[in-house]
Amino acid sequence: MSQFAETKPHVVLTPYPAQGHINPLFKLAKLLHLRGFHITFVHTQYTYKRLLQSRGSNALYGLPDFRFETIPDGLFSMDDDDADVSPEITHLCDSIRKNFLQPFRDLLARLNQSATDGHNPPVTCLVSDCFLTFPIQAAQELGVPILLFCPTSAATFLTVMHFPALVDKGIIPLKDESYLTNGYLDNKADCIPGLQNFRLKDLLGYIRITDPEDLVFDFILEVANRVQRAFPIAFSTFDELECNALNVLSSMFPSLYTIGPLTLLLNQSPHDHLEHLGSNLWKEDQECLEWLESKEPRSVVYVNFGSTTVISPEQLLEFTWGLANSKKPFLWIIRPDLVIGGSVIFLSEFVNETKDRGLIASWCPQEQVLNHPSIGGFLTHCGWNSTIESVCAGVPVLCWPFFADQLMNCRYICNEWGIGVEIDINVKREEVEKLVNELMVGEKGKKMRQKIMEFKKKAEEDTKPGGSSYINLETVIKAYVMNVL
Ligand code: UDX
Repeated sequence: MSQFAETKPHVVLTPYPAQGHINPLFKLAKLLHLRGFHITFVHTQYTYKRLLQSRGSNALYGLPDFRFETIPDGLFSMDDDDADVSPEITHLCDSIRKNFLQPFRDLLARLNQSATDGHNPPVTCLVSDCFLTFPIQAAQELGVPILLFCPTSAATFLTVMHFPALVDKGIIPLKDESYLTNGYLDNKADCIPGLQNFRLKDLLGYIRITDPEDLVFDFILEVANRVQRAFPIAFSTFDELECNALNVLSSMFPSLYTIGPLTLLLNQSPHDHLEHLGSNLWKEDQECLEWLESKEPRSVVYVNFGSTTVISPEQLLEFTWGLANSKKPFLWIIRPDLVIGGSVIFLSEFVNETKDRGLIASWCPQEQVLNHPSIGGFLTHCGWNSTIESVCAGVPVLCWPFFADQLMNCRYICNEWGIGVEIDINVKREEVEKLVNELMVGEKGKKMRQKIMEFKKKAEEDTKPGGSSYINLETVIKAYVMNVL
């Protein structure tokens, strides 16, 4: 009989299978492991295959008490060669609803069966991405507690929880396509308490739907309907960032905990032995860190549009010349699937013009890059992780939001927090050039840097012993994951 079979509480964690959801939940898994939990982290088979590819197979087999398990995603098989492509969101959402519950039930049964043989402790708690409903059903069937984890902003989750009300009020789905352009979306989002400073067009991109049978729309409605207010829920945010949204949510969810930024909490404890357990789906290019060493402090613009944004070749060209004409050094991450239509060929004029001050890579260790002293600004799609990581690094931003919650995050960044400015969706090279300069050397950039340093300080205070996120994490662990309070 294995020694940990009786002793360790066993947490099974389920991320929504996309990079921006996996990363923060993986950090929480590490934090729980550091506090003595046996961890099972559940990937889809396809995601796991991508992880193995990006990290080399040995890197992922975990530790005796930090295990990986997989379930099929109903879309790709393990034999698919094309394993560098993110699943299309509509298909993924549909497949999650239709195909994930039964394999997950089977997995839990298998884990509990192997517990009787002493191979692992019995499952004591589930920790699930709040945008998945199948773990809720499985937890209820098994009679184990579930903690929900929100990897996006609290404002995004608040919007999701208001989806049924927005439908009842006839606000969404939009009546027809003309509502996208006729000024309707400029109306204030005062139908959602806590978001009075947002306009409809700043809300989650999925409100721009006209088809009531849209599969992502259905997916979100199901989340809103299934998440019960009695469930404990932890957020990857910190108090000072989102007071209004958090106040409203606290009145809806009595057991609500802000536990961000997770990276800063993780940095409180030595965790070198967990470093080899990574979560990036693309291979990280370490050379960009060396390249940054050769650059002046705060001189480099870091450009990265995350894991799901795609851009047209025309938009690529505008960014290309905007960056070239700005005359600032830049590190630009161009994923293999970033540009619609695939291949990226840069004009020789651009290559010649920027060869001494520009570096292009396909994926990087983002948090290390952001924290490098040479980075002075971040041109981002405003994913929530990128937003929080930028705050932790004290790097002001240029926003080019693409879809989903990125529009909300952009509104926060530019209008609520004053730590960034927005580039028009219809991007033009002159605007990129101007805003890059403003960010890197202008007065506005200086003010934004000061402001983001204030948020960084608050994030550090919140995650130190005695800070709100630190205390919340301890509370949520004792109260729900260990069930001992
Ligand atoms: C998605 C959604 O697009 C986003 O809006 C939502 O908030 C979370 O899910 P994504 O687009 O990937 O996420 O953006 P983001 O939230 O910023 O997450 C990307 C993650 O990948 C970050 O943790 C970032 O550090 C990491 N990353 C990204 C790298 O490590 N290297 C890279 O080159 C790019």
